[in-house]
Amino acid sequence: MLSTRFTELVGCEVPIQQAGMGSLSHPRLATAVAEAGGLGMISVYGVDPEMISDMFEHLPRNLPGAFGANIIPHFVEPDMMPATVAAAASQARIVEFFYSDPDPELVGLVHERGALACWQVGSRDEAIAAQTAGCDLIVAQGIEAGGHVRGRISLLALLTEVLESVDVPVLGAGGIGNGRALAAVLAAGADGARVGTRFVASPESGAHPAYVQGLITANAADTVYTDAFHIGWEDAPHRVLRSSLEAAEAFPEEAVGEGTNIYTGNPYPIVRFQSTGTHQGTTGAVEAMSLWAGESVSGVHRVQPAGDIVREMAEEADLLLKRWCA
Ligand SMILES: Cc1cc2nc3c(=O)[nH]c(=O)nc-3n(C[C@H](O)[C@H](O)[C@H](O)COP(=O)(O)O)c2cc1C
Repeated sequence: MLSTRFTELVGCEVPIQQAGMGSLSHPRLATAVAEAGGLGMISVYGVDPEMISDMFEHLPRNLPGAFGANIIPHFVEPDMMPATVAAAASQARIVEFFYSDPDPELVGLVHERGALACWQVGSRDEAIAAQTAGCDLIVAQGIEAGGHVRGRISLLALLTEVLESVDVPVLGAGGIGNGRALAAVLAAGADGARVGTRFVASPESGAHPAYVQGLITANAADTVYTDAFHIGWEDAPHRVLRSSLEAAEAFPEEAVGEGTNIYTGNPYPIVRFQSTGTHQGTTGAVEAMSLWAGESVSGVHRVQPAGDIVREMAEEADLLLKRWCA
């Protein structure tokens, strides 16, 4: 079903990649996605390399899907990068990077350890640079996306430019929250879709219930592209629930709450306009924190197991594409 160059290259049954989402892309989410045939991603930036090895060693094997590691170079000390990439690439099927210029050295490190290299990009030029750097596949991210947004134009326009410019498999990201949108990017020539927001509303993400409730009640028009939540990561625009931006603007104090590192359990303070993941260990005024959400939020109607999300999206896309071809 829905076999593409991506599914063949990565060894997945379904052309869906779950986005690495920082503290919300827990190994249990990646496992649920891989069990359903998708590519489950774990964000490993800022995680101790030994812990990365341990985490991947304990993942189940021989699943219909595969596992990958997601790295945002901005959050890795340069002297820790080789060990971080080596730990991830030794065990993950794919290691991908986001939010910096494609770097042939990093791609080389991934290949040395036997994994596939991927870059999430936001423009045609960046896609060409990723292919030139040696990436085996590329994710093209449109401005509809939730979380930090590299794309400056809508996904369909970006996909068209990127697909005309590179030969490696390309996934579309941004605003894809149901089978209809998955079918649309496949029909446009993409080899799969990367999905973020929809998986936040799964029990496996560990997202804070108030955040999930906000996603369930929101539509695409309730998200906003902004650079307001800049503390901890400057010059990186993002898309959040509009309600969270308004609540942060109206919040009377600087201290908004406290988070907990999901791997070490260490607490950290959260201030107003800080860029942060909001999970079950987060306390305080959650509604005024950075509640990342893509325009795909229109596809979030309830909390649903991640495996069901993968199957539902794949089946709906399959049906629509068959109807279209008939
Ligand atoms: C809660 C959340 C956290 C995210 N964190 C990351 C991250 O750590 N690394 C990354 O490469 N992309 C991250 N992204 C962006 C995704 O890779 C992807 O581009 C986006 O989710 C696609 O749009 P969608 O949310 O509409 O599906 C995040 C997105 C969300 C919603």
